Amino acid sequence: MVKVDLSGAKQFFTGAGPDYALAALCHETLVNKSGLGADFTGWLELPQRVKDTELERILAAAKKIRSRSQALVVIGIGGSYLGARGAIEMLRPIPGKDDPKVFFMGNGLSADALSDCIEQLGDMDFDVNVISKSGTTLEPAAAFRIFRELLAKKYGEEADEHIFATTDAKRGVLKSLANDKGWESFVVPDDVGGRFSVLSAVGLLPMAVAGIDVEKVIDCAIAEFKALDLRSPENPAWQYAAARQNLYGKGFDTEILGCYEPSFRFMAEWWKQLYGESEGKDGKGIFPASVEFTADLHSMGQYIQAGRRSLMESVVRFDHSRTAFLFPNDAQNADGLNYLAGRDIAEIANIAADAVRDAHVTGGVPNMVIHVEKRDEAGFASLVCFFELACAISGYMSRVNPFDQPGVEAYKKNMFRMLGKPGAV
Ligand code: PA5
Repeated sequence: MVKVDLSGAKQFFTGAGPDYALAALCHETLVNKSGLGADFTGWLELPQRVKDTELERILAAAKKIRSRSQALVVIGIGGSYLGARGAIEMLRPIPGKDDPKVFFMGNGLSADALSDCIEQLGDMDFDVNVISKSGTTLEPAAAFRIFRELLAKKYGEEADEHIFATTDAKRGVLKSLANDKGWESFVVPDDVGGRFSVLSAVGLLPMAVAGIDVEKVIDCAIAEFKALDLRSPENPAWQYAAARQNLYGKGFDTEILGCYEPSFRFMAEWWKQLYGESEGKDGKGIFPASVEFTADLHSMGQYIQAGRRSLMESVVRFDHSRTAFLFPNDAQNADGLNYLAGRDIAEIANIAADAVRDAHVTGGVPNMVIHVEKRDEAGFASLVCFFELACAISGYMSRVNPFDQPGVEAYKKNMFRMLGKPGAV
């Protein structure tokens, strides 16, 4: 399990501090499936379900793709791509020699991004994994048509064998197309919303193609959800959920998530969607933003330290870095850096992180640290389970339905009308 350190937040808490009694009630409501949006809480059982059903087929598909292709184009948007991208960048930021390159497309409407990807694909052999629960989202649907054409040009009648569809089990255009064309398909379960789906085929197939040990991810996630069932203020998900709700009540309405590993950037994007879409409704919600440390201390650091006092800060810290990197000694010491000689860069980063925390707390920014053992499959699984559970508890604590996203429809309605989609009003 991750460990949450609230020592940099406690001086900012109101009243008796985090409301663990309410966190307990919300946790109970969640697992009893008696709260708002209970029909979308299947993610709690998702790792075991996937292990019992699709995992073997996911592994087999990934093996096939790895053996024949130099690239996989993953087409999806929001919850249908951020988790996989976060995992791949966190765990395998540089593809190994036998790893296909994974491109993420269909997450915007950029002609330039499309043509850049097509140019990079060149004459590489490639497969496509199209991911859309509804099957109707414009951005991935449009990109998919383009890549299907490309596959058809390249592989002719064999093109359909290069398409893997991850979508609803029964409904939607994508599902019907998959049935008609015989594409291998995987399921986004009915009771799991996009942003909670990373531990299904949505995340696992691209991750496995990229060379991540997804069996390990799933086994760790099963163990993690069990451990997080702890009904006590020792539960890190209660601590994080209750602390941020307490701080929100005091006017800290923006949360910045930071990390000292650049490879965490897309995990932070995944987290932003998870919390933003789950909590931002009914005129409420903590605004989730992200920063990369130490880089952003030289761009956003001024604001964090001394701007409007509405920020709370959560920092993910990996307790053990993957590599030891000792700072070199220099006999001349012309740059004056020999005071660092012989010290591990990770140790220097840890000291920097402590120094930054103290400065921010002194500047009026409540600080929460989320400690994760390592940047590996187990660390990824524990972060996902922790953030998902804490998000649901936190959403219930603020009395919203954390599992819907009615606000996302507004732009789509306008866009479809303005584009002249038949039937759009
Ligand atoms: O969390 C969500 O439900 C959304 O972010 C969806 O994942 C996103 O809108 C994409 O939807 P779909 O998978 O239906 O194309």
